Amino acid sequence: MIRKYRIGEPIPTDSVVKEIEITEGSIPYFSMDTEGKELSLLLEKNDKVFGLGETVRGINKRGWLYSSNNSDDPNHTENKHSLYASQNFFVVFSKKRQFGVYVDTPGKVNFDIGYSKLDKLTVAFEDFDADIYIVDGDSVLDIVSQFRQIIGRSYIPPRWAFGFGQSRWSYMTADEVREVADKYQEAGIPLDMIYLDIDYMERYKDFTVDDSSFPEFPKFVEEMRARGIHLVPIIDAGVKIEEGYDVYEEGVEKGYFVKKDNGENLVAAVWPGKVHFPDFLNEEARAWFGNKYKVLMDQGIDGFWNDMNEPAIFYIQDHLEEVFEQIEDYKGKNLDVQSFFDFKDLVGSIDNNPEDYKRFYHEYKGRRIRHDKVHNLFGYNMTRAAGEAFEKLSPDKRILMFSRSSYIGMHRYGGIWHGDNHSWWSHLLLNIQQMPAVNMCGFLYTGADIGGFGSDTTEDLVLRWTAFGIFTPLFRNHSARYTRRQELYRFDNVPVLRDFIRLRYALIPYLYSEFMKAALNDRMLFKPLCFEYDDDRSALVEDQLLLGESIMLAPVYTQNAQGRYVYLPEEMKLVRFRAFDDYDEDVMSAGDHYVRAELNEILVFVRKGHVLPLAKPEKSMGKVGVSDLTFICHGAEPGSYDLYSDDGESRVV
Ligand code: NOJ
Repeated sequence: MIRKYRIGEPIPTDSVVKEIEITEGSIPYFSMDTEGKELSLLLEKNDKVFGLGETVRGINKRGWLYSSNNSDDPNHTENKHSLYASQNFFVVFSKKRQFGVYVDTPGKVNFDIGYSKLDKLTVAFEDFDADIYIVDGDSVLDIVSQFRQIIGRSYIPPRWAFGFGQSRWSYMTADEVREVADKYQEAGIPLDMIYLDIDYMERYKDFTVDDSSFPEFPKFVEEMRARGIHLVPIIDAGVKIEEGYDVYEEGVEKGYFVKKDNGENLVAAVWPGKVHFPDFLNEEARAWFGNKYKVLMDQGIDGFWNDMNEPAIFYIQDHLEEVFEQIEDYKGKNLDVQSFFDFKDLVGSIDNNPEDYKRFYHEYKGRRIRHDKVHNLFGYNMTRAAGEAFEKLSPDKRILMFSRSSYIGMHRYGGIWHGDNHSWWSHLLLNIQQMPAVNMCGFLYTGADIGGFGSDTTEDLVLRWTAFGIFTPLFRNHSARYTRRQELYRFDNVPVLRDFIRLRYALIPYLYSEFMKAALNDRMLFKPLCFEYDDDRSALVEDQLLLGESIMLAPVYTQNAQGRYVYLPEEMKLVRFRAFDDYDEDVMSAGDHYVRAELNEILVFVRKGHVLPLAKPEKSMGKVGVSDLTFICHGAEPGSYDLYSDDGESRVV
């Protein structure tokens, strides 16, 4: 049962697609403090709080302060409150009670989950306008599923998007891309996608291709397709200000960019230098921008990633000028320590400053609204622009789309990647822990940058991260410029990495089936153990996940480990994979075990009464079939597995 309560006059977000009548009266479980502008509830000792999507820290969110305030922050450390997303759904549960809460409001929201007081949860939002949905159900999974039903079906990518992808900021030329494809081929490692980061563009202008470094682009796209590889270009939120650039000129002429108080277009700076931001919240501007993807689709492109859409702001022109003026005051003065820090802060406050969100406006649903009030909807509506356009531009075929920034609702138009993580072991764990949380909020096609984006990676981290990554729907190795190169063929353990990637392709019948079943039935793909096992111990496990109906994962995520402790809530069959056709099986009893896992091994636990199908791995997704399967069974017959199969590209109605 879902009840909707309204506080004040919330700005609609279009995240909930089901019509639900407003219930009058007080919001169950919470008490309301209108002066403090917060809702609060007392947490009992055994209450757990799971959800909130792409946030820092563990699966159980108790103990920290999380803010929904989409931010371009490449340092996902424990002291942070916000990352790129606002996914304001969580579940409070224990053996005694269970309920879900969705806080639907597009501005900043603070979730204090046992931070100020260990036993208190508060939800505070600036204007105190929101729709609050309370979800009651028979189990946590039932609560999540009910919630997912009201927000609409999750985005379904083409089947080829479950292949392995290689990315780098940036492959600078077509020849560099060819070299990546060649090296993967020589190493015998399957590959379905190569990502093009910003340098494929002409001076970072969206929907252009630099003709000197990527000559005859449509031919090149075709050449790569013939080799089984899809090129997936990036699209950034900011539109470069440049005379003669059609997107810029049209946007200015039609008034489709966000505006300042005085009606002038806001000038900000991102990678292209000075840019205007399209007003993605304005329906007409959204349709206009969405249609621009056609320029690349007409050249054979069938997948994109949307970036810098929180939006990321290096500076706002007006703010920069103010700082230049203020700096004058410091010139020639003998700065004491305090004034030195004030001076430093002045410069430090220029990029990604939430105060700047008050400097510009949107035309949203017939109203002029200041950006800070709707900040968290920006990336969502950029991806919505693309998704809505794809329905018209490609009515028959699915198009790959994922975004960095998001809000619930965007899950209908695209997936997400988890942003600029680092090549840190802790970020492998963070990747594991975020998977179920984003699934709860409707985001199924997701994955992190395997090997880590920022900082220099290490071979053992790449091995362990790939060993987990083979299970995530979006499976992409990506890294930042100036960091150590991390294409898989560069490491000594190429044979091991090849076997890992081949295992991914062997797992496709299972992964695709489970993904599709989760999408079509509003279920989770990755689940914390305690969503299915109600013993007390399962509720404490933060580093193992159930994936689909048949298997449990226990990834190794620490440096120099040769194994790990694994908790089995029931008897399971351990399959220790070295390759799709080289594994040992061992039935293990319920309880705690130390399980060995060398760098070349991947642990999969098959649940009792379940089956894991495996295909023969192929060089690319197009060739992976569903006939000729091998079945690893644990107390079940092969025929009991419900395989989902379709042509992998037609839109699912
Ligand atoms: C930030 C994105 O998060 C990252 O993946 C990308 O490589 C850089 N922008 C450059 O486009």
